[in-house]
Amino acid sequence: MNKKNLTDTAILTVAGLSKSFGGVKAVNDLSFSVKKNHIHAIIGPNGAGKSTLFNLITGIIPPDKGEVLFSTTDITSLSSDQIAKHGVSRTFQNIRLFPDMTVSETVLIGTYLLTGAKLAPALLRTKAFREKEQAAKQRVEEILKFVGLWDVRDEYAAQLSYGNQRRVEIARALATQPQLLLLDEPTAGMNPKETKELMELFTAVNNEGITILIIAHDMNLVNTLSDHITVINFGEKLVEGTADVIQKHPAVIEAYMGKVKVDA
Ligand SMILES: Nc1ncnc2c1ncn2[C@@H]1O[C@H](COP(=O)(O)OP(=O)(O)O)[C@@H](O)[C@H]1O
Ligand SMILES: [Mg+2]
Repeated sequence: MNKKNLTDTAILTVAGLSKSFGGVKAVNDLSFSVKKNHIHAIIGPNGAGKSTLFNLITGIIPPDKGEVLFSTTDITSLSSDQIAKHGVSRTFQNIRLFPDMTVSETVLIGTYLLTGAKLAPALLRTKAFREKEQAAKQRVEEILKFVGLWDVRDEYAAQLSYGNQRRVEIARALATQPQLLLLDEPTAGMNPKETKELMELFTAVNNEGITILIIAHDMNLVNTLSDHITVINFGEKLVEGTADVIQKHPAVIEAYMGKVKVDA
């Protein structure tokens, strides 16, 4: 039985995307598309340009050339807030949490983008503001229960285990109600148990109809979760396809799998 409704509709299209830093072509004329409801993995060696690609897609940095379409909307020159409002959310390779905020507060902040909370109504505590606040708190509760953080909601986010800190980031990303979630090496540094539990969470998120674009090095994770894989090397697309195709590809074995084996 099909666990989900895979479609051929592209939710994200990257076309001829390029970005250089000084003389380094971090992303070089890269084109690919992500299909709606897929879990799509981006793999490639360190320095291949994977995080730069995410920064370009989410408007953290502008590309030198090329386009990013979200469904049919050109989001190339939008700010990261505008891109998030369209329905694209992300986590970062290095966990970024405010030290003085609880789990609930951290995720509540994520909902502000949606509610468009402004300072004056917040200070005056207008009826409209209180209604929005109540809806946001309700949403936070649902998300925290969904990701398994409800029991630690009042703890400081930055003091949780590494696996739970990553969950907080995912919860914060879900608070903006994304259609597309980008995860940059979400299981790096996790122990096998944390990795397995996060993989279950990614599947659950995907089963909610959220498309996932994930950067990962763990080939067990990539092969288990991915509907489609794009391999990049030196900022360029090396090959793409299903796990079966990728695993057998000589250039991948040479450029990536071989390296992983040496590292392991
Ligand atoms: N802000 C930046 N300034 C200068 N060079 C950068 C910057 N971000 C990334 N790079 C360089 O771009 C290349 C790709 O980096 P990155 O996208 O982080 O790769 P990956 O995530 O695949 O490991 C590397 O050579 C890196 O040093
Ligand atoms: Mg990276």
